[in-house]
Amino acid sequence: MPRGEAMRLGTVDETTDLLVRDMRWEAEDVLRLGLERPDGKPLPTWEPGAHIDLVLPSGIERQYSLCSDPSDATRWEVAVLREPVSRGGSRSIHDELRPGARVQARGPVNTFPLADAEEYLFVAGGIGITAVLPMIEAVARAGKPYRVAYLGRERARMAYLGHPLLQGPAVTVAPRDERGRFDLEAWLGEPAAGTVVYACGPARMLDALEEASAAWPGGELRMERFQPKVFADVADGSVFEVEARRSGVRVTVESSCTILEMLEQAGVPVPSSCLEGVCGTCETVIVDGEAEHRDSILTPDEQAANETMMICVSRSKLPTLVLDI
Ligand code: FES
Repeated sequence: MPRGEAMRLGTVDETTDLLVRDMRWEAEDVLRLGLERPDGKPLPTWEPGAHIDLVLPSGIERQYSLCSDPSDATRWEVAVLREPVSRGGSRSIHDELRPGARVQARGPVNTFPLADAEEYLFVAGGIGITAVLPMIEAVARAGKPYRVAYLGRERARMAYLGHPLLQGPAVTVAPRDERGRFDLEAWLGEPAAGTVVYACGPARMLDALEEASAAWPGGELRMERFQPKVFADVADGSVFEVEARRSGVRVTVESSCTILEMLEQAGVPVPSSCLEGVCGTCETVIVDGEAEHRDSILTPDEQAANETMMICVSRSKLPTLVLDI
């Protein structure tokens, strides 16, 4: 599915009032939340790979992959790992949220859509399984071949291990404390035409996967990152102009600020969430110019196509950039 089409699936500007219907332990330090609308009305539909933003009681917003059945409009499920160094999101959910509480959600938005392919390889690291599970379900239902590598530090901390889709010969479960370092390169095998690799997990695993799949064509590896990729600092004195074509606004972006910040200061409303180039909320169409991509979402092919960019982190290679906003 083209990325632009995926973006239109989102309802990121609207918030939905949700009731926390139930909470249960899915693994050590992983809580599964069942969410419903308090008025019993149907929830927005979604497709595998979609996430919602939860607006927590503290005001913090965090993205969580939907991991229930996409066709079930009565209920959403997300699973939340208690981060060892929480910036407030996972701690707030684990310590403060309880069944019966209300919480606001934005979305769903799908920046990690499932493309049509002949065969699929899924790599999930830790809580990344939540993004991948609905994809496995859709592919299994379509009768397409797939393999799954589910990696984690310890078995006890790996969620959904009892899920029916994570059993059988197509699935390799590899807790590091039992099996040591997993050989991703050997598991991936040779690049195969028509095969797409989907991966979600911690930065270290995704960096290793990028390295292991270096021989694969750029568009065949699709990843969703929790943490942003690390880029060199923006060079001092790097300045460019941005024209927001639809708004009729022009701003100057200095090295110390982002396109998104400058547009917001100029009164151009831009949907945003993570501000780190990992959620896709601020994806904007490029009309003219060339982006210097600094996001962690677009594939190398999508970046090279220069059609859209994440304006919370990405910049311009040329003195002027024209955006459809
Ligand atoms: Fe999340 Fe820009 S706000 S990618």
